[in-house]
Amino acid sequence: MTIIAKTTAQSTAKTTAEIRSDFLEFFRSKGHTVVPSSPLVPGNDPTLLFTNAGMVQFKDVFLGAEKRSYTRAVSSQRCVRAGGKHNDLDQVGYTARHHTFFEMLGNFSFGDYFKRDAIAYAWELLTGVWGLPKEKLLVTIYHTDDEAFGIWHEEIGLPADRIIRIGDNKGAPYASDNFWQMADTGPCGPCTEIFYDHGEHIAGGPPGSPDEDGDRYIEIWNNVFMQFDRQPDGSLLPLPAPCVDTGMGLERIAAVLQHVHSNYEIDLFQHLIRAAATITDTADLEHKSLRVIADHTRACSFLIVDGVLPSNEGRGYVLRRIVRRAIRHLWKLGALSAEGNFWRMVQPLIDVMGGAYPELIEKRELIERALKAEEAAFSQTLDAGMVRLDGYLVQNNGLIDGEQLFQLHDTYGCPPDLIADILREKGMDLPPGAMADYERWMEEQRERARAAGKFGGGVTLPAELIAQLQPTGFLGYDRLEDGGLEVVAILRDGKPVDAIAAGDEAIVLLDRTPFYAESGGQVGDTGQLAEKGALFEVVDTQKLAGQFYGHVGRLTAGSLARGDRVLGQVDHDRRGATVLNHSATHLLHAALRGVLGTHVTQKGSLVAPDRLRFDFAHFQAVTADELAEIERRVNAEIRANSPAEVHQMGMQEALDFGAMALFGEKYGERVRVLRMGETSTELCGGTHVGRTGDIGLFKIVSEGGIQAGVRRIEAVTGQGALDHIATEERRLAEAAALLGGNPADLADKLRTLLDRQKKLERELEGLKAKAAGAAAVDLAATAADVGGIRVLAARVEGMDAKALRDTVDRLKAELRDAVVLLAGAADGKVALIAGVSGAALGPIKAGELMAHVAGQIGGKGGGRTDMAQGGGEDGPRLRIALDGIQDWVKDRMG
Ligand code: ALA
Repeated sequence: MTIIAKTTAQSTAKTTAEIRSDFLEFFRSKGHTVVPSSPLVPGNDPTLLFTNAGMVQFKDVFLGAEKRSYTRAVSSQRCVRAGGKHNDLDQVGYTARHHTFFEMLGNFSFGDYFKRDAIAYAWELLTGVWGLPKEKLLVTIYHTDDEAFGIWHEEIGLPADRIIRIGDNKGAPYASDNFWQMADTGPCGPCTEIFYDHGEHIAGGPPGSPDEDGDRYIEIWNNVFMQFDRQPDGSLLPLPAPCVDTGMGLERIAAVLQHVHSNYEIDLFQHLIRAAATITDTADLEHKSLRVIADHTRACSFLIVDGVLPSNEGRGYVLRRIVRRAIRHLWKLGALSAEGNFWRMVQPLIDVMGGAYPELIEKRELIERALKAEEAAFSQTLDAGMVRLDGYLVQNNGLIDGEQLFQLHDTYGCPPDLIADILREKGMDLPPGAMADYERWMEEQRERARAAGKFGGGVTLPAELIAQLQPTGFLGYDRLEDGGLEVVAILRDGKPVDAIAAGDEAIVLLDRTPFYAESGGQVGDTGQLAEKGALFEVVDTQKLAGQFYGHVGRLTAGSLARGDRVLGQVDHDRRGATVLNHSATHLLHAALRGVLGTHVTQKGSLVAPDRLRFDFAHFQAVTADELAEIERRVNAEIRANSPAEVHQMGMQEALDFGAMALFGEKYGERVRVLRMGETSTELCGGTHVGRTGDIGLFKIVSEGGIQAGVRRIEAVTGQGALDHIATEERRLAEAAALLGGNPADLADKLRTLLDRQKKLERELEGLKAKAAGAAAVDLAATAADVGGIRVLAARVEGMDAKALRDTVDRLKAELRDAVVLLAGAADGKVALIAGVSGAALGPIKAGELMAHVAGQIGGKGGGRTDMAQGGGEDGPRLRIALDGIQDWVKDRMG
């Protein structure tokens, strides 16, 4: 029935395209210049992620910093509110009015007309041109704006009770729904907002009332009287001239004019939703996924039109997340295909928006190509990602942690907000802290990527230079210092120069060097190059073109020229500490293979002065016992104090010798083989200890997963290991002191404490149950009588789900023929439990009552005939929903 009603309404009503052009034409007839929408990427404001209001392109005109040939303008501005400060992404599909992309209709006056004309124009368009019934409109004004009140009341004739003054309701001067500001600084001023009353049958109160969040009164148009420029210290300076900035959501006004309640029911969205239904072969036009696809089609297409492409950073990453969410909804509808489907939404979008935005038609191929590429990439991993997600959910009782979020993103390309969207469908949330943990994992990965790409990609040696140079001779296996090293080339900003002066940053190439250049995971050396008065501080050493050692740093004194001879001194302590970690890495590798099996292969490693990090293939977490055994074996090799033997030999010879070669690593014809003790023989170009005993001590600091099938161990050696143990001991002593004991009896003390806590929790449970009993008796007295059935609907504080259930059970027993619904509110959320008993069973079903109530407070619920549970949002609608229960029962009882 509703569908027929909708079709009738739309066939007589104006289309969204007509409404847009009505608006532009109306203001054109009032002397306004029609200004095209500016792009979604603001040209004049790097601080803003996306254009999010019509006035963004006019910001400097308001401030007087830019002059235009006109003083009156009108536009239909495309806006995106996803990512950044205004983020509606999470709401899309769940509410009637949130979009990632929307159009803002606006008229603007730059020092031309002010309040009187702005209000008169708005009224004329709404009630004259569009014929909205005057009695359905009401307005808000800023509480001190008597001028606006006078205009609305005396000139427009609006009754005083439909002009609502809104004060500084956000706790600071000028912090009000009726004082609009672009940002913390910049143009601002009081505003008057026009509301449409969708009718008594919809819950909600007028603006300013406790129930204002309901859907009955919807703001359709904001008229801002721009008067001030807010300064960083909060003070307001007058603008050069008073201005007007207005904004009306096109989708909202279309809903009003087409007599529908949800934006998704307007013609434009219905066209997109039908197209999505055809593409995905979905019969249910109300399916939430169709709405999401329709919404996201607009945001994605326009972002691509405006030059954004899916990527892993900034605006591109916001776009990638939106595209992938849309693709996940296609997948949910079973409509993911190799050729892709999301791009097929572009033509339907052009059908409804191409007239107003010809750029959609011009860039059609680009949009389709970008969407196709993203779907092709994501569809390869999405299935596996969803399987992995289900696995995590089963494994952790529905809780996803930061590491798992990272894996889902890193391995399967599922961004965390997409996971949150899926959890939300299942009635779950991300656990607190999971996002912060995820960010930490991401940051580490970025650091790895930075380290990997630091020089390899950045500096390329010019071919002529490579032709002139001999490969650098490496002296650093035996020496950390040497003189007479010749400067054979200097690069500044990546280009060869003859000389550098004090203060210059550069890369210096020598004929020979004791500095180790980063490779095989071992970090590059630091130190200095000195010559007469010149001092070059080396902050890193990197290999260029595979065989030339680049000393990266800065000349802090004197000057340095090609042909100079310098003394090179490596930072001894740093290299010394690094060497311990490198040798320990080999022993660790061998121990891992001994304890976990020979499937363990190296996947990556970092050997730094303060720690070592070793990534390896292994499919489950390493147990505490295994870790202890690994540590024990490495330390046994250290105590054996075997010499580290280095052999130079041919590749085949080395393999026959039993040396482990790393897959994917490039080796020359002659290779260097390092053998330590009985267990470790590896090909390695790095620098090492003389005897294993030099390592002193090896201590594992952490173990964890970094990708599917790859684990990471971090460890410390030598003085670093002793420092680590000292820190741990101090922590233990602190904890023991807190518990009033010493580390030896820490576990016993803790056990006693935990036992006591358990006992107290049990006592608390008992007390809660008693309190619930008492509450039930009090509540029972408030039950109403509906034709012999006792009806009780109440909001209670401080009861968890179990206490609520117990109380409902008691109430059912107490009231006998009863319908009971309790709402337990906590932290903005409400848990609902309904129970039906005695003669009420039959006509009343607890599950239906639950669905009815939860639906009104933006939640879900259901259950059996005698007992049901659910939940939703706390707020004014809860009161209305509870108050309505008696009538609902009355209806059912006939
Ligand atoms: N700039 C005002 C708004 O965005 C009109 O609501």
